[in-house]
Amino acid sequence: MEQLEKREHDFSAKLRQESVISALKDYVSWQRELRAGREDTVFPVHGPVSINLDLTTACNFSCPHCVDSRLLNTGDYLDLETVRKSIDTLEKNGLKSVIIIGGGEPTIHKNFQEIVRFIKHRGLQVGIATNGSRLEKVAEVARELSGKDWVRLSLDAARESTFFKAHRPRGRTPLSGILEGASRIKDLNPEVQLGYSFVVVWEGIEVNGYELAANVDEMELAVKNAQEHGFDYVSFKPCLVRLEGTMRESLFDPPDPQREERVIEQIRRNLASAQAAASGRVRILKSVNLEAMLDKRVHDLKVQPETCHSQYFRTVLAPSGIFHCPALRGVEHARLADASGYRGRANFEFTHACLEHSIRSYNARVGCNTVVCFYHQVNWWIERFIASGEPVESIPVVGDDNFFL
Ligand SMILES: C[S@@+](CC[C@H](N)C(=O)[O-])C[C@H]1O[C@@H](n2cnc3c(N)ncnc32)[C@H](O)[C@@H]1O
Repeated sequence: MEQLEKREHDFSAKLRQESVISALKDYVSWQRELRAGREDTVFPVHGPVSINLDLTTACNFSCPHCVDSRLLNTGDYLDLETVRKSIDTLEKNGLKSVIIIGGGEPTIHKNFQEIVRFIKHRGLQVGIATNGSRLEKVAEVARELSGKDWVRLSLDAARESTFFKAHRPRGRTPLSGILEGASRIKDLNPEVQLGYSFVVVWEGIEVNGYELAANVDEMELAVKNAQEHGFDYVSFKPCLVRLEGTMRESLFDPPDPQREERVIEQIRRNLASAQAAASGRVRILKSVNLEAMLDKRVHDLKVQPETCHSQYFRTVLAPSGIFHCPALRGVEHARLADASGYRGRANFEFTHACLEHSIRSYNARVGCNTVVCFYHQVNWWIERFIASGEPVESIPVVGDDNFFL
């Protein structure tokens, strides 16, 4: 189990997979040339290995905790042709996986099923994050998904009353109905990895003056729900809160060690009960930042190397443009191009030049010093490897498995 969890988050291992290692080697060599003062060195042409694809800003839930609330319901969406042409261009340049997520609720997009099919016909891995309100659309494409693909439901509760407070669903979709729909997807295709996503909310979190409904004591019940309805895993992550007046996210900011201690203890206790309830039948995943919280390393993850190397390997394609980080979607200074930036070779080349500029000029040590970065470990791993001067041929290669970054 421990091994599985480690692999899930070990992004450096993902970049060392047979099918992507050449991008990693070329990138490291380019960085070394740059640092040796060879300014004219050519930026290697590889597209992202993985993208977050935000199909639409429309959402039929209004979750008070939503990190993307400022991006929602603007009327913007990605049109089918842009999605097709972008995936086509990216696939020719090394794309291996697509995470269909948001912003908004992807299943609201009128071409959702067609887009999933298109991605699968291109041989790419696909992950779908959904609020579960339109699982009949996911069911239509369920049989086309394969073993590495996943459907993850953002449920964040185990009881109906908490579910309503956490999501304020339009049409009053009940949790029980969503769980039934999830079971059907697993019946249609047992290979699909079905996830129960749970943002852990503790007492006293306020967002825009609104106190969130705590759910920390429902972690065990969530595992039981997951087991009853055929889920493969429950994924716990701490609730992120955006700092007032900035576009960044922060945990425990400003630091409050006593409160931190109490909250961590409470999560630890509930996690232990959840793990006991899982009894090996459902995997329990902890997000990078939850693990850091429990190990009291949250503040370490806010210290980034100057260069964010991860932007070379994964980006976000959203209606409002292409962004160099999922934590900075919609943030102007993180925008590489507009939404047509991967539509065809010429646009891709222009966006790639913008990416080069971003990698060379964006200072993550300063720009991301309040972000508990999911890519902290891989950024430092690449940074240290560049500095080590060790030959790129010495990077250990691993077999292809999962390309979600
Ligand atoms: C904004 S939702 C959009 C996609 C889709 N509508 C859904 O419900 O999954 C994307 C992801 O952001 C996560 N998320 C939203 N607000 C969060 C917060 N405050 N802290 C941690 N994760 C959050 C959700 O749990 C979900 O997995």
